[in-house]
Amino acid sequence: MDRWEALWIVIVAATLGIFIGTLVAIAGVGYIPPSEVEAEYRPTDAVEEFKPGVRSLGDGVYEVNILAYRFSFQPNKIVLENPKEVRFRIYSNDVLHGFNIIGTNVNIMVIPGYVSEIVWRPPPDFEGSYLVICNEYCGIGHSGMFAELVIKR
Ligand code: CUA
Repeated sequence: MDRWEALWIVIVAATLGIFIGTLVAIAGVGYIPPSEVEAEYRPTDAVEEFKPGVRSLGDGVYEVNILAYRFSFQPNKIVLENPKEVRFRIYSNDVLHGFNIIGTNVNIMVIPGYVSEIVWRPPPDFEGSYLVICNEYCGIGHSGMFAELVIKR
């Protein structure tokens, strides 16, 4: 066997070994891809516990619970005064939706039956409106699924 041929066989085998080793290691630590979030699927209970709306925790900290559904968000207009830190909790009880605040790095998937959480620190100098859209195709009305986020200073 040629020396170079042997070397390439070793390189290919080693690469394959790394790939398979990575898979085995990931399976070992229990890595779960986002499409298979491991949590209890309890749509009806969760909806009963889930109260859409804005909650001020004081000092510019807000918790905003949002229900995403075909084809809107509830609340549909979110008004925050002098927000420093906003925890968005978004819940869907029908299909997969998205929650994307245009012009920011807030962009998460909303998996039916689960609450998606994201903490956002709005730019301190921004005043005005953000457009919030659903960016996961969720049906015929997907393109009309949006909300408004108003920041007052
Ligand atoms: Cu909801 Cu697209």
